[in-house]
Amino acid sequence: MVKLFGNVVTFLLGAAVMAAAAFVLPERKAEVAQPIAFNHKKHVEAGWECVNCHPYVEEQPFAGLPTAQDCVDCHRSEMPKYPDNKKMREITEQLEQLIAEGRDIPWVKVHRVADHVYFSHRRHVAIGKLDCKECHGDVANMTEPFTRHAFPLPSFPKEFAYDESVRKMEWCRSCHMEKGVTVDCAACHR
Ligand code: HEC
Ligand code: HEC
Ligand code: HEC
Ligand code: HEC
Ligand code: HEC
Repeated sequence: MVKLFGNVVTFLLGAAVMAAAAFVLPERKAEVAQPIAFNHKKHVEAGWECVNCHPYVEEQPFAGLPTAQDCVDCHRSEMPKYPDNKKMREITEQLEQLIAEGRDIPWVKVHRVADHVYFSHRRHVAIGKLDCKECHGDVANMTEPFTRHAFPLPSFPKEFAYDESVRKMEWCRSCHMEKGVTVDCAACHR
């Protein structure tokens, strides 16, 4: 009897540990490598705003990323203020070389939704007045480029085996429900 009881306790403990682990284990997300060690923190501290480099974020569905020409244009006009910044000079010369070869920086886009989903930055940022942080984390303090998305997706116990696509949808839907915004399938799936 005591033995049986012990086994049951061991089993229950094991199940509890597994259930807890399902919640606390770090999520496995695919990582990508970016072509340049871009430092958001340095640029934000130098006084630039998100919209200076993601120029469409208030007016279009997409935010946009800076091209090599954008980096060079700003660096060429700012460099006199940073005479000791060797890294800034070097990267500018490398980028000019890239442009001369007719190429651009091959950034890997990490924040995205499938083509069957409609998402608009203008709607969320300009009209909904949401902070970038709500969806992309503390970008202003990042010293390394993005290697994975930072969407704060909900986690579910492993047993549910939900894939990332379902978790993304639940993330959108739960904020919409909280803020009284539509959760009509056709609003997002057009
Ligand atoms: C709107 C202006 C602006 C744009 C656009 C810009 N930069 Fe900069 N960048 C700066 C300034 C200003 C500094 C110097 C910051 C400092 O030293 O505090 C800098 C510094 C750097 C440095 C040196 C960082 C270090 O560790 O000292 C790198 C590398 C760099 N930028 C890469 C890029 C790349 C790549 C792009 C384009 C994708 C880019 N920058 C676009 C203004 C800009
Ligand atoms: C000086 C230019 C510059 C400024 C200012 C800037 N960014 Fe960026 N941002 C970049 C570059 C270059 C990349 C691509 C490299 C990387 O991932 O860091 C990027 C990438 C991103 C991405 C990931 C894009 C993807 O692949 O999905 C997000 C999100 C983002 N920035 C948000 C912000 C926010 C929020 C701010 C303001 C707090 C900001 N950025 C300010 C240049 C800038
Ligand atoms: C409500 C959530 C939300 C907010 C707020 C938000 N984003 Fe995004 N962001 C997304 C989603 C979702 C995507 C992927 C969109 C897609 O694939 O069409 C994305 C993609 C991006 C990208 C990738 C490149 C591109 O052209 O879209 C950048 C850069 C970016 N966001 C920057 C910003 C900045 C800067 C802000 C604040 C001014 C911001 N975002 C606010 C959810 C958000
Ligand atoms: C607030 C926005 C939103 C609403 C409302 C919404 N969805 Fe989604 N849905 C998404 C997003 C985001 C994804 C993930 C796309 C991705 O993988 O990038 C998704 C994914 C899906 C998928 C694909 C799942 C998979 O495994 O690939 C289906 C099917 C789906 N939604 C059906 C529905 C139905 C049915 C409704 C209405 C009951 C609905 N959605 C409402 C945003 C929404
Ligand atoms: C942090 C909260 C939040 C998140 C996360 C969020 N949204 Fe929204 N969304 C809003 C708010 C607030 C509005 C209403 C803005 C307005 O019009 O005032 C909105 C509006 C919309 C609309 C327009 C709805 C209509 O009435 O036609 C669509 C489409 C949409 N969101 C899609 C998405 C998708 C897709 C995602 C996930 C990838 C998402 N949203 C994630 C807060 C959010």
